[in-house]
Amino acid sequence: MASFPYNKVLLIGATSGIGWELAQKLVQRGVFVVAVGRRQTRLDSFLAQHGDSKVATIAFDISEIDKAHLFAHNVVQQHPDLDCIILNAGVQYVMDFSKPHTVDMGNIQKEITTNYTSMVALTHAFVPFFQANSLNKEVAFMYTTTSLMSVPYPMVLNYSASKAALHAFILCIREQFKQNPEHRINVVEIVVPLVQTELHDGQPGWDPNFNPGMPVEQFVNETINGLEAKEETVAIRQAKQVFDEFEAEKGRRVGPAWAIIKKNMGKAHTFG
Ligand SMILES: NC(=O)c1ccc[n+]([C@@H]2O[C@H](COP(=O)([O-])OP(=O)(O)OC[C@H]3O[C@@H](n4cnc5c(N)ncnc54)[C@H](OP(=O)(O)O)[C@@H]3O)[C@@H](O)[C@H]2O)c1
Repeated sequence: MASFPYNKVLLIGATSGIGWELAQKLVQRGVFVVAVGRRQTRLDSFLAQHGDSKVATIAFDISEIDKAHLFAHNVVQQHPDLDCIILNAGVQYVMDFSKPHTVDMGNIQKEITTNYTSMVALTHAFVPFFQANSLNKEVAFMYTTTSLMSVPYPMVLNYSASKAALHAFILCIREQFKQNPEHRINVVEIVVPLVQTELHDGQPGWDPNFNPGMPVEQFVNETINGLEAKEETVAIRQAKQVFDEFEAEKGRRVGPAWAIIKKNMGKAHTFG
């Protein structure tokens, strides 16, 4: 039977929903989990449940972009054996531009910062550590996206755009890391369908009694199977259908398209 390919995971967005369930399943498999989120009470429950021989917790607001490097520095000091980072945190807001009073520009900014810019900042902050530590073993960045990056949903248009941006970033850093095979940095994308979590709770315009989608435990069980099989893209159920239809070919073309540029315009990009 396959097992989870990494031993110590920094799980960002571990205090509820998919992250919480994933953290539980990883601990059950003997993986040490460093859980991150803003809600201290949830982090305390997680630590109380498993104990400090199996888990650690860090309260951090990833939208504080300018603290990403300090955060990474502190994490690797405490966990020099870290070999996997799951960037799972996300927020979602409902809005309708045809009813401009429903659009809160603060929420637009928060959604872009949390779902995209913070992911980029954290990746940037951890790359030097992973490069230094992946000469003899594989390490991984994993990111959570959604089928809405391919077929945007009008009521969560900015959320859809933030995840489409994250998907483009994932495709490109995967190719960049592949150019440097001495560093064995894997880039994994988890493409999520509608799942029953807290993501939709409390949103204006969202019926609080409406909680559609897959049960989170079922979703995480299927996701873990894909992660243990070392799939580069773990797309589940309806998200897999959408991914296969709209994204799979796009992903296949990024590397070859870059190779054509390099062949024909070798001096186009000249970082040392
Ligand atoms: N549920 C779905 O239907 C669905 C579908 C497609 C994709 N996704 C994606 O799946 C991922 C997990 O979402 P979920 O459905 O499990 O929702 P969730 O239950 O609301 O969990 C979101 C997680 O993100 C964390 N988070 C949000 N903002 C943060 C911040 N500024 N700093 C640190 N942590 C932050 C939350 O922790 P704190 O609040 O404690 O900070 C929480 O742990 C998200 O990226 C979401 O976009 C979900």
